[in-house]
Amino acid sequence: MVKRRAGPPTGTTAALAVALLVACSCCRSGSAFAPPPLTSHRQQCRGRQQHALRAETAINIDTVSQELLEISAKAQQEMDAATTLQELEDLRRVYLTKKGPVQKVMGQMRLLSPEDKPKLGKVSNEVKDTLETKLADRKNALEMAVIEAQIASETLDVTLPAIPYARHRTGHRHPLSIMQELAVDIFVDMGYDLVDGTVDAPEIENDYYCFEALNCPPDHPARDMQDTFYVKEQPGFEPLLLRTHTSAVQIRQLEARGAPLAIVAPGRVYRRDTPDATHAPEFHQVEILHLRRKGELTLAHLKGTVEAFLQKMFGPDVKTRFRGSFFPFTEPSMEVDIWFKGRWMEVLGCGMVDPRVLEMAGVDPVEYAGFAAGFGVERFAMVLFGVPDLRMFWESDVRFLEQWPSDIQSLKDAIREGSLGSPQS
Ligand code: DAH
Repeated sequence: MVKRRAGPPTGTTAALAVALLVACSCCRSGSAFAPPPLTSHRQQCRGRQQHALRAETAINIDTVSQELLEISAKAQQEMDAATTLQELEDLRRVYLTKKGPVQKVMGQMRLLSPEDKPKLGKVSNEVKDTLETKLADRKNALEMAVIEAQIASETLDVTLPAIPYARHRTGHRHPLSIMQELAVDIFVDMGYDLVDGTVDAPEIENDYYCFEALNCPPDHPARDMQDTFYVKEQPGFEPLLLRTHTSAVQIRQLEARGAPLAIVAPGRVYRRDTPDATHAPEFHQVEILHLRRKGELTLAHLKGTVEAFLQKMFGPDVKTRFRGSFFPFTEPSMEVDIWFKGRWMEVLGCGMVDPRVLEMAGVDPVEYAGFAAGFGVERFAMVLFGVPDLRMFWESDVRFLEQWPSDIQSLKDAIREGSLGSPQS
């Protein structure tokens, strides 16, 4: 209500009053001149307007909040149902921009009482957060679905057989590895324990295990046949060398396990040899040692074991020959030949273990005795696979390597069927 001032208006005050009468844009009504109020005319006027409006529409916070929650539920449902990123983007435009239904409801804020306004603010913020989170989650899910669909459509079928060219390029198991595994397998089948690895069967040895303990002292002439490569001497360390044969493993096992025992020890050995068709400075051997109570193992058992092994290796028709020979660590000693391409070929050394070797290793030779044997894997592979020059094994030409089966069972089958070619031929 505007209070009238007593007495007529004068001068500029009168002019202002006229202007107010004409120009009040708040209430569009003429207004008589009034003294400067505590709040401006405009503020007072707007307050009255709002009050009147509130009274007219009389909205209540619960209704508006409910409205917001319903919008939110509907929007969430539609977002869940969206199946493409574009649909989701359309929903974002509908619900989360300034002209969206949330904002529209917020427009009613002015109709609420001052104490309800913050309540609506809270609900609307919660709704906005919920919708934004929902939108981001759905967007993520749809993007993942797009990626997954792409992966699924590009899946590589690894069960398809390799094309021949690719197979050539994948390489092939080396015939020497297969050969060595086959030999070890045959002895393991007979009950021998496999011994290998750097602790039990090191390739870098000392003089004692490689020679002295095998009854071959420094001045022994047999050493001439097995010159090797020496590791540069370090002050304070014993001289080391690359082992010349796998026989050194016998001594390590005798010391570690004593008797009785039956072991098979494969591995790489080294000698100072110039490479030619039958020699290489680095090659492979397999060693066996079998000890039992004295009297249980004789030369006949040694012969029987070696023959059984050679038959499994080269086929049941293999022709073998035992010749007397010499090794410092066996007494008596023998060399074994097989008939190969029209001539006898030496393939293996063996003998009854010299009692002195047992004694040096701490095994009582009065109680225990047995036999040992050793052979070169390359020599066996040359015979079995009909390879005339052992240097071919080191060239690693995959066309050469893949001529032979790469798994033991196929190799055993091929030997039994004679399909590798008989060594006798
Ligand atoms: N160590 C011998 C060598 O390399 C092969 C050998 C012969 C091993 C007779 C033995 C054996 O165990 O008893 O020539």
